[in-house]
Amino acid sequence: MTRKTPIKPQLWTPRPVSETIAVYRDWAGDYDADLATRGYHTPARLVEGLAAHVAPETTVLDFGCGTGLSGTALLRRGFTHLHGTDVTPEMVELARAKVIYEELWVSEPGAPMPRAYDAMVAVGVVSLGAAPPETLSLLVDGLSPGGILALSFNDPTLEDGSYDAVLDRHLDRGEVALLSRDHGPHLDDVGMGSDVIVLRRA
Ligand SMILES: C[S@@+](CC[C@H](N)C(=O)[O-])C[C@H]1O[C@@H](n2cnc3c(N)ncnc32)[C@H](O)[C@@H]1O
Repeated sequence: MTRKTPIKPQLWTPRPVSETIAVYRDWAGDYDADLATRGYHTPARLVEGLAAHVAPETTVLDFGCGTGLSGTALLRRGFTHLHGTDVTPEMVELARAKVIYEELWVSEPGAPMPRAYDAMVAVGVVSLGAAPPETLSLLVDGLSPGGILALSFNDPTLEDGSYDAVLDRHLDRGEVALLSRDHGPHLDDVGMGSDVIVLRRA
Protein backbone atom coordinates (compact mmCIF):
# COMPACT_ATOMS: atom_id res chain seq x y z
CA MET A 1 0.00 0.00 0.00
CA THR A 2 1.26 3.51 -0.77
CA ARG A 3 1.42 5.50 2.45
CA LYS A 4 0.51 9.16 2.29
CA THR A 5 2.39 11.61 4.46
CA PRO A 6 0.25 12.12 7.57
CA ILE A 7 -1.80 15.27 7.07
CA LYS A 8 -1.37 16.07 10.78
CA PRO A 9 2.20 14.92 11.51
CA GLN A 10 2.08 16.70 14.88
CA LEU A 11 -1.04 14.83 15.96
CA TRP A 12 0.38 11.95 18.01
CA THR A 13 2.53 13.90 20.44
CA PRO A 14 1.87 15.17 23.98
CA ARG A 15 0.77 18.81 24.15
CA PRO A 16 -1.16 21.21 26.43
CA VAL A 17 -4.95 20.80 26.30
CA SER A 18 -5.43 24.28 24.79
CA GLU A 19 -3.29 23.23 21.81
CA THR A 20 -5.22 19.97 21.45
CA ILE A 21 -8.47 21.90 21.28
CA ALA A 22 -6.94 24.24 18.67
CA VAL A 23 -5.82 21.24 16.54
CA TYR A 24 -9.35 19.79 16.55
CA ARG A 25 -10.97 23.21 16.05
CA ASP A 26 -8.91 23.67 12.88
CA TRP A 27 -9.56 20.08 11.72
CA ALA A 28 -13.31 19.95 12.48
CA GLY A 29 -14.60 21.05 9.06
CA ASP A 30 -12.48 18.49 7.16
CA TYR A 31 -12.44 15.72 9.77
CA ASP A 32 -15.15 13.41 8.39
CA ALA A 33 -13.98 13.68 4.77
CA ASP A 34 -10.35 13.28 5.82
CA LEU A 35 -10.99 10.15 7.92
CA ALA A 36 -13.13 8.68 5.11
CA THR A 37 -10.08 8.70 2.81
CA ARG A 38 -7.66 7.38 5.45
CA GLY A 39 -9.40 4.11 6.35
CA TYR A 40 -10.40 4.61 10.02
CA HIS A 41 -11.13 1.17 11.55
CA THR A 42 -11.12 1.68 15.32
CA PRO A 43 -14.77 2.85 15.71
CA ALA A 44 -16.26 -0.34 14.20
CA ARG A 45 -13.75 -2.59 16.03
CA LEU A 46 -14.37 -0.92 19.36
CA VAL A 47 -18.16 -1.00 19.04
CA GLU A 48 -17.94 -4.77 18.38
CA GLY A 49 -15.97 -5.10 21.62
CA LEU A 50 -18.66 -3.18 23.48
CA ALA A 51 -21.51 -5.17 21.93
CA ALA A 52 -20.07 -8.41 23.32
CA HIS A 53 -20.96 -7.18 26.85
CA VAL A 54 -23.65 -4.49 26.57
CA ALA A 55 -27.28 -4.76 25.46
CA PRO A 56 -28.25 -2.41 22.60
CA GLU A 57 -30.94 -0.61 24.65
CA THR A 58 -28.29 0.60 27.16
CA THR A 59 -27.50 4.32 27.15
CA VAL A 60 -23.89 4.72 25.98
CA LEU A 61 -21.73 7.77 26.65
CA ASP A 62 -19.52 8.52 23.62
CA PHE A 63 -16.69 10.34 25.44
CA GLY A 64 -14.65 12.51 23.06
CA CYS A 65 -17.37 12.06 20.46
CA GLY A 66 -15.76 14.52 18.04
CA THR A 67 -17.95 15.04 14.99
CA GLY A 68 -19.93 11.87 15.77
CA LEU A 69 -18.09 9.21 13.73
CA SER A 70 -17.89 7.00 16.82
CA GLY A 71 -21.60 7.63 17.53
CA THR A 72 -22.42 6.69 13.96
CA ALA A 73 -20.57 3.37 14.45
CA LEU A 74 -22.57 2.76 17.66
CA LEU A 75 -25.82 3.50 15.86
CA ARG A 76 -24.93 1.13 13.00
CA ARG A 77 -24.32 -1.63 15.57
CA GLY A 78 -27.81 -1.09 17.05
CA PHE A 79 -27.08 1.23 20.02
CA THR A 80 -29.78 3.88 19.83
CA HIS A 81 -29.52 5.69 23.20
CA LEU A 82 -26.43 7.81 22.82
CA HIS A 83 -24.99 10.63 24.90
CA GLY A 84 -21.93 12.50 23.65
CA THR A 85 -19.38 14.94 24.97
CA ASP A 86 -16.16 16.54 23.73
CA VAL A 87 -13.90 19.43 24.70
CA THR A 88 -13.82 21.01 21.21
CA PRO A 89 -16.96 23.10 20.53
CA GLU A 90 -16.49 23.00 16.74
CA MET A 91 -16.42 19.18 16.78
CA VAL A 92 -19.55 19.06 19.00
CA GLU A 93 -21.38 21.42 16.62
CA LEU A 94 -20.83 18.95 13.76
CA ALA A 95 -21.86 16.02 15.97
CA ARG A 96 -25.08 17.91 16.81
CA ALA A 97 -25.89 18.25 13.11
CA LYS A 98 -25.94 14.43 12.79
CA VAL A 99 -28.90 14.30 15.24
CA ILE A 100 -27.84 10.96 16.76
CA TYR A 101 -27.27 11.97 20.41
CA GLU A 102 -30.07 12.29 22.97
CA GLU A 103 -27.75 14.48 25.06
CA LEU A 104 -24.67 16.27 23.81
CA TRP A 105 -22.46 18.80 25.57
CA VAL A 106 -19.08 20.54 25.47
CA SER A 107 -17.05 19.33 28.45
CA GLU A 108 -14.36 21.08 30.44
CA PRO A 109 -11.06 19.17 30.18
CA GLY A 110 -10.72 16.93 33.24
CA ALA A 111 -14.27 17.54 34.48
CA PRO A 112 -15.90 14.59 36.28
CA MET A 113 -18.85 12.87 34.58
CA PRO A 114 -22.18 14.55 35.41
CA ARG A 115 -23.73 11.12 36.17
CA ALA A 116 -22.76 7.46 36.29
CA TYR A 117 -23.01 5.42 33.07
CA ASP A 118 -23.50 1.67 32.55
CA ALA A 119 -21.60 1.89 29.26
CA MET A 120 -19.02 4.25 27.81
CA VAL A 121 -16.78 4.36 24.75
CA ALA A 122 -13.73 6.53 24.11
CA VAL A 123 -12.69 6.00 20.49
CA GLY A 124 -9.30 7.55 19.69
CA VAL A 125 -9.60 9.88 22.67
CA VAL A 126 -7.54 8.62 25.63
CA SER A 127 -4.40 8.64 23.50
CA LEU A 128 -1.27 10.59 22.77
CA GLY A 129 -2.33 13.74 20.94
CA ALA A 130 -5.81 13.87 22.49
CA ALA A 131 -6.79 13.46 26.18
CA PRO A 132 -4.01 12.88 28.77
CA PRO A 133 -3.52 9.53 30.60
CA GLU A 134 -5.33 10.61 33.79
CA THR A 135 -8.53 10.93 31.72
CA LEU A 136 -8.82 7.15 32.05
CA SER A 137 -9.35 7.60 35.81
CA LEU A 138 -12.21 10.06 35.16
CA LEU A 139 -13.90 7.48 32.96
CA VAL A 140 -13.43 4.66 35.49
CA ASP A 141 -14.85 6.92 38.23
CA GLY A 142 -17.84 7.72 36.01
CA LEU A 143 -18.85 4.07 35.50
CA SER A 144 -21.66 2.46 37.49
CA PRO A 145 -20.68 -0.70 39.40
CA GLY A 146 -20.50 -3.44 36.74
CA GLY A 147 -20.41 -0.78 34.00
CA ILE A 148 -18.45 -1.37 30.80
CA LEU A 149 -15.83 0.93 29.26
CA ALA A 150 -14.46 0.28 25.77
CA LEU A 151 -11.52 2.45 24.72
CA SER A 152 -8.60 2.44 22.31
CA PHE A 153 -4.86 3.12 22.59
CA ASN A 154 -3.20 3.81 19.22
CA ASP A 155 0.34 2.55 18.47
CA PRO A 156 2.18 5.74 19.58
CA THR A 157 0.21 5.55 22.87
CA LEU A 158 1.22 1.91 23.34
CA GLU A 159 4.86 2.82 22.71
CA ASP A 160 4.64 5.76 25.12
CA GLY A 161 3.58 3.56 28.05
CA SER A 162 2.19 6.29 30.34
CA TYR A 163 -1.43 5.42 29.45
CA ASP A 164 -0.82 1.73 30.18
CA ALA A 165 0.69 2.76 33.54
CA VAL A 166 -2.64 4.37 34.55
CA LEU A 167 -4.58 1.37 33.27
CA ASP A 168 -2.32 -1.03 35.19
CA ARG A 169 -2.90 0.97 38.40
CA HIS A 170 -6.68 0.54 38.09
CA LEU A 171 -6.30 -3.16 37.25
CA ASP A 172 -3.87 -3.76 40.16
CA ARG A 173 -6.27 -2.08 42.61
CA GLY A 174 -9.09 -4.29 41.37
CA GLU A 175 -11.17 -1.25 40.36
CA VAL A 176 -11.66 -2.67 36.87
CA ALA A 177 -11.34 -6.10 35.28
CA LEU A 178 -9.96 -6.60 31.77
CA LEU A 179 -12.58 -8.32 29.58
CA SER A 180 -10.67 -8.17 26.30
CA ARG A 181 -7.72 -6.48 24.61
CA ASP A 182 -7.03 -6.87 20.89
CA HIS A 183 -4.62 -5.20 18.51
CA GLY A 184 -5.87 -4.38 15.00
CA PRO A 185 -5.94 -1.69 12.29
CA HIS A 186 -6.48 1.97 13.26
CA LEU A 187 -5.59 4.14 10.22
CA ASP A 188 -4.67 2.55 6.89
CA ASP A 189 -2.87 5.51 5.32
CA VAL A 190 -0.16 5.61 7.97
CA GLY A 191 -0.24 1.86 8.66
CA MET A 192 -1.12 2.53 12.31
CA GLY A 193 -2.79 0.04 14.63
CA SER A 194 -4.59 0.33 17.94
CA ASP A 195 -5.52 -1.80 20.92
CA VAL A 196 -9.23 -2.03 21.67
CA ILE A 197 -9.58 -2.54 25.42
CA VAL A 198 -12.81 -3.51 27.18
CA LEU A 199 -13.07 -3.08 30.96
CA ARG A 200 -15.71 -3.85 33.58
CA ARG A 201 -15.98 -1.67 36.73
CA ALA A 202 -15.90 -3.65 39.98
C1 LIG B 1 -9.27 11.49 17.14
S1 LIG B 1 -10.66 12.42 17.70
C2 LIG B 1 -11.85 11.10 17.94
C3 LIG B 1 -13.26 11.61 17.80
C4 LIG B 1 -14.30 10.49 17.68
N1 LIG B 1 -14.37 9.70 18.89
C5 LIG B 1 -14.00 9.61 16.48
O1 LIG B 1 -13.80 8.40 16.65
O2 LIG B 1 -14.00 10.15 15.36
C6 LIG B 1 -10.22 12.84 19.37
C7 LIG B 1 -11.26 13.73 20.07
O3 LIG B 1 -10.89 13.82 21.46
C8 LIG B 1 -11.27 15.11 21.89
N2 LIG B 1 -10.53 15.38 23.13
C9 LIG B 1 -9.24 15.73 23.26
N3 LIG B 1 -8.93 15.90 24.57
C10 LIG B 1 -10.06 15.63 25.27
C11 LIG B 1 -10.40 15.62 26.66
N4 LIG B 1 -9.48 15.94 27.61
N5 LIG B 1 -11.66 15.30 27.03
C12 LIG B 1 -12.59 14.97 26.08
N6 LIG B 1 -12.34 14.97 24.75
C13 LIG B 1 -11.10 15.29 24.36
C14 LIG B 1 -10.92 16.01 20.73
O4 LIG B 1 -11.61 17.24 20.81
C15 LIG B 1 -11.35 15.14 19.56
O5 LIG B 1 -12.68 15.41 19.16
